[in-house]
Amino acid sequence: MTRHDSQTRRTDIDRQWWKEAVVYQIYPRSFNDSDGDGVGDLQGITEKADYLADLGVDVVWLCPVYESPNADNGYDISDYRSIMDEFGTMADWEALLDALHERDIRLIMDLVVNHTSKQHEWFQQSRRREDGYDDYYHWVDGTPSEPPNNWESIFGGPAWTYDDERGQWYLHLFDPEQPDLNWRNPEVRDAVTEAVTWWLEKGIDGFRLDAIDHLSKSDAYPDGDPDSAIVGIEHFSHGPRLPEYLDELSAAFEGYDTMIVGEMGGADIEQVDDYTGEDGVDMIFQFDHMGVSVGPNGRWDPTQFGEWELTDLKEVISQQQDEIDWPALFFGNHDQPRLVSHFGDDETYRTESATLIATFLLTLRGTPYIYQGEEIGMTNTEFDSLEAIDDPMTVGIVEDLIADGVVDSYEEVRDLVDYQSRDHARTPMQWDDTENAGFTADDPWFDVNDNYDEINVESALADTDSIWHHYETLIELRHSEDVLVYGDYDLLLPDHDQFYAYTRTLENETTLVVLNWSDECSTFDCPSVPTADANVVVSNYDDTPSDPTGHAFRPYEAVVYQL
Ligand code: GLC
Repeated sequence: MTRHDSQTRRTDIDRQWWKEAVVYQIYPRSFNDSDGDGVGDLQGITEKADYLADLGVDVVWLCPVYESPNADNGYDISDYRSIMDEFGTMADWEALLDALHERDIRLIMDLVVNHTSKQHEWFQQSRRREDGYDDYYHWVDGTPSEPPNNWESIFGGPAWTYDDERGQWYLHLFDPEQPDLNWRNPEVRDAVTEAVTWWLEKGIDGFRLDAIDHLSKSDAYPDGDPDSAIVGIEHFSHGPRLPEYLDELSAAFEGYDTMIVGEMGGADIEQVDDYTGEDGVDMIFQFDHMGVSVGPNGRWDPTQFGEWELTDLKEVISQQQDEIDWPALFFGNHDQPRLVSHFGDDETYRTESATLIATFLLTLRGTPYIYQGEEIGMTNTEFDSLEAIDDPMTVGIVEDLIADGVVDSYEEVRDLVDYQSRDHARTPMQWDDTENAGFTADDPWFDVNDNYDEINVESALADTDSIWHHYETLIELRHSEDVLVYGDYDLLLPDHDQFYAYTRTLENETTLVVLNWSDECSTFDCPSVPTADANVVVSNYDDTPSDPTGHAFRPYEAVVYQL
């Protein structure tokens, strides 16, 4: 792998630290277990602070570490101001913040405020109609046999559960253990603001806002289109008061030097800019590119999945690059299959395709997010029964498919699960080739992927040609080249079915990226770009010639050139 030296840093740019940052996402349960109980924890992350600094990342996004009964691994919060016992103590959290800040790494926390856990005292008081908490959730009258409408949960099954104690139905867009907060109630919004301020005062650097497109629901809860992949979504995504709520929430960040990224599973590319900027958040996770490989009925469509066309990916990514003011770049996270299994070849060309995707992620316009394990090319695993699955989404969807008669058994839907399950991303981090991949001294809470003896951090660090070192090189390059952060993006060869090529241009500087996104050789020829004087800046093969024109790119060869 080659890397040439960088240019000087420009001074005439309106800089933002969060535009220049590379983010690393940690799923604490599966990152590193320091106390041998089989569950990752905060001290375990602190132990790896040098590892993160060596990789070169600027920000850690920590998935939820708050007190939680773990119906959805921490995304069901029972107290916004305390730390889950399994993960440690508030002192451990403070030590982690210090360890990161000492290394110039900022910390953003997950803020899950579309819903709480059922165990949150707000819900407990609300179900008893106590002390002003009466209206904290979406409660609707009705007989126990008839839900208020036909809305479906994103995790499968109805979006309503009858609560015997209160004698009413409550809404949960996710698991029944995750009742939706009623954002129409100003006291709910004030309580959320107080929690946000509390964490900002503790010195964090921002938030990732979970499922933020669902905060506002249609008035009167009308029935949804029964043919929709998620029935009711048109009434609980991008509801009428969402801009107002985000505006109000963003006021809480004023006066703090933060980075705020919102997760919007259902936002169209055209909608993203409505929610960002002065009265909104800094950037949004928009998901269209993750859908190139799914059928007409979405992610869990058992009739069509797995096949995708490079030209479709180019079209979606280019639309995001052209139309979104500041994209949040990601190809994997804790809710997705492993990126090299999804978009690459996790067998023959695992290293080549993982480094190709890394090159793509780190040379696009926007802020890149690396999910733990991507830097060593961790792959999907296999789930031979429904009992092997932990994720409530996968379980709920499979149960629905069986109950609706779409499939008769788990076996019939297993290929889809092996392709899509969120649990692929949640297998423990593979640190070395000792038992349990060095993740824990005890039985891990979730099975380690069998391939840990081959794919692990220790061996990646020892090999200068590894995926890890390629990430390190690309992160360093991005830090030194403004053109990769602030330059314009222009797609080349839009109809080519093997090459994904583009330029990034900032005034008179141009970087060319050529990715042979296939397992076959292909010769590059793009007359609109003069390449005779090109230099190779980074390549995932050793002997890439300096001029791409006429070069027969090898499988998954990925090269960054300076023109
Ligand atoms: C978001 C999270 C996901 C969680 C869901 C409910 O999509 O990323 O992990 O299950 O919200 O909180």
